[in-house]
This record gives sequence, C-alpha cells and structure tokens, in this order.
Amino acid sequence: MAQKRKKTRPAPIGRLWQALKHSTAALATLALPAMVMAQNTGSSTSTEVQLFQAGQVSWEWLLIPANHGSGAQAMRNGTACLSCHDGEASFIGETVASTPALEPDPIANLPGFIDLSVQSAIRDGQLHLQLSWPDLSGDGPAGASEYPAQVTASIADDTHDTVRRYSCWSSCHSDLPGMSEGIGSQLSKYLPNSRSSMTRTGGGDNFRPDNELAEERERGAFLEYSHTALAGPDRAVVSDGHFLEAQREHDDTAFTATARSENGQRIVELQRPLEPQGDTRKALQPGGRYSISFAVYERNTEGRRHLVSFPLELIIEADAARIESLFD
Ligand code: HEC
Repeated sequence: MAQKRKKTRPAPIGRLWQALKHSTAALATLALPAMVMAQNTGSSTSTEVQLFQAGQVSWEWLLIPANHGSGAQAMRNGTACLSCHDGEASFIGETVASTPALEPDPIANLPGFIDLSVQSAIRDGQLHLQLSWPDLSGDGPAGASEYPAQVTASIADDTHDTVRRYSCWSSCHSDLPGMSEGIGSQLSKYLPNSRSSMTRTGGGDNFRPDNELAEERERGAFLEYSHTALAGPDRAVVSDGHFLEAQREHDDTAFTATARSENGQRIVELQRPLEPQGDTRKALQPGGRYSISFAVYERNTEGRRHLVSFPLELIIEADAARIESLFD
C-alpha cells in the first residue's frame, strides 16, 4: 500500500541555501603533492552540498502533476529545482527513503541524505575537484555492485536548456532498469532530446533518426559524465562518457582520479583538462557557467540507489572554479 507523503515542508529560506556554504581557502590547506602545490597560483573554493536518496523519482514522475504537484507544470516552464527546493534536500531524501511509492525497496540504515564536500580549483589548465563524503560501508554491504562506493559528476553547458537546467534528472527515466516501468528493460540512461516522443513511462525505443542524433551530438546537446569507482580504500577506477540516446563510455578518459580514506570520510581527487580532447566532452572556458550535479553510491549499490544533488552551477574563472546553487 502506498504510504501518504508528508505534507509539512520546511519553511523556505530563500536564496540563503543552508546546505551550500562557501569558503575560500588557501590552496596550501589542501593535501596535494608538493609539486602540484608549488605550481599553484589560484585558490580553492569549498562548497557543502547535501545529497539525497532519489529512489524511483524519474524525469516522468517529476513532470506528472498527480505526483509532483505544482512542480510538474513549473518544470515544463523551465523552473529550476532549487527555485522551489532550496534547503529541502534532507527533507526530500527522508521523504523518498520512507515512502514506498518513491522507494519501494529501501536499504536498511541507508541515510536519506548525506553531506558532500567539494573543493574546486583551476590549476595549470585543469579543473580540480576534491569530493569527500562519509564512508557508510560500516553499516554492511547492500550488494549488487562489486565496488564499495562510486561517485559521478555530470557536466552540461548552455547548448540545450533542459539538459543544462535539469542535468542528471533529465537522463533518469521510468523505463530504465530498477525504475517503476523498468522490468526487462535493456535501456541505459538517455536524454529526452534523443527521442521522437516521450510518454508518461519514458521514451522507450522512440529513437530519433541517426542523422538527427548525430546533429544533437555535434551541437553539444549531451550530458558529459565522469564515473569514479572505489575499488578499495585507496584505489580509484575512473572513466568518462556522455549521455544522449544511451550511456556512451569513452574509450579513453580525460579524468585522472585518486582515492583515500581518512577519519571515516572517503576522499576522491579528480582532475580534467579545461579543454579536453574529443567532441563529446565539454570545453570549460574562463568566464563560463556550466551545470554540474553529483551522485554517490555507498554500500556496493548501483542503479537508482544513489544519493544525488540538485543541479548546481559550475563557474569557471581564470584561476578559480566555484560551485553555487542553480536557480534558473
Ligand atoms: C515549482 C516548484 C518546484 C520545482 C521547480 C520542483 N519541485 Fe519538486 N516538489 C515541489 C512540490 C510542491 C512538491 C510536493 C508535491 C506534493 O506533495 O504534492 C515536490 C516534491 C518533490 C519530491 C518528492 C518528495 C517530497 O518532498 O515530496 C521530489 C523528489 C522532488 N520534488 C524533486 C524535484 C526535483 C529533482 C526537481 C528538479 C528537477 C524539482 N523537484 C523541481 C515543487 C517543485
């Protein structure tokens, strides 16, 4: 039986998003190899982001008024998630985790939300991201993935407004494996602009013709992702790719990653050239604003069982990179 969703929402706290605090720290405070540090000219910015359980909340769920109330029409008009949900990540995560219609098979003791700390910096033509979150493996394995933990970051520019504004949420559909309509599905994550029509259950195999997909890819209407699997406490396996009609992992990766564990926190250091090789990666220009979203898997999980962020804004400057709330 579907449990009724809580109706009491926390009072909005306007644009002062409590979950997103900034501070600028001298780069010297980062634990980086001396050689890299010596070449530093800029500073790093630190941002606290709350990640929350997404359950079976899909793109289609979000667009149906019977599910998402006023959020559904607002999204059709292009309102960003944080315009309404500023400060609500923890509330939403707990609601999802405790509502069978949103998460029919909850993982025991998996928190509804966690804190992700992000340090961002630009050095030597590279974007550096240090991601750190609590190691939850002590609560026992949930199974499904060989990796104890994984983290992804998705990046889009302003080529396609929906992809930029809704980031990974636009790639998550009801007809994917593990989602409400996903039984027997062979699909992998895809974007709505790859389908000739979208229904209440997803885009299925309504693929646009190959020449149109090629045009979408060429003009940059895709979502770039990086994926780091933690194969052990200090072993990171990194790959990258893009989503358009499906998940396409690139043959090589533009990212390098290291991982370590410290005081119950997992710490992943990622870096990637601002202007990487390959047409299906985003060139990040100083002065540019991009969208970025994060997802963390803990307890050997995969598929929908991640803790995710709302879409955020990645601001690239000559010698700094900042992450802020994305409101429009
Ligand atoms: C116009 C404001 C608005 C926007 C924009 C919006 N939402 Fe919502 N959202 C709501 C409202 C209102 C509810 C409660 C719906 C209800 O209970 O009837 C809700 C509920 C939810 C829920 C269910 C859990 C809960 O707390 O009830 C999730 C998950 C969610 N929204 C995620 C998102 C995401 C992700 C985005 C962006 C992709 C988004 N929302 C955009 C207003 C919005």
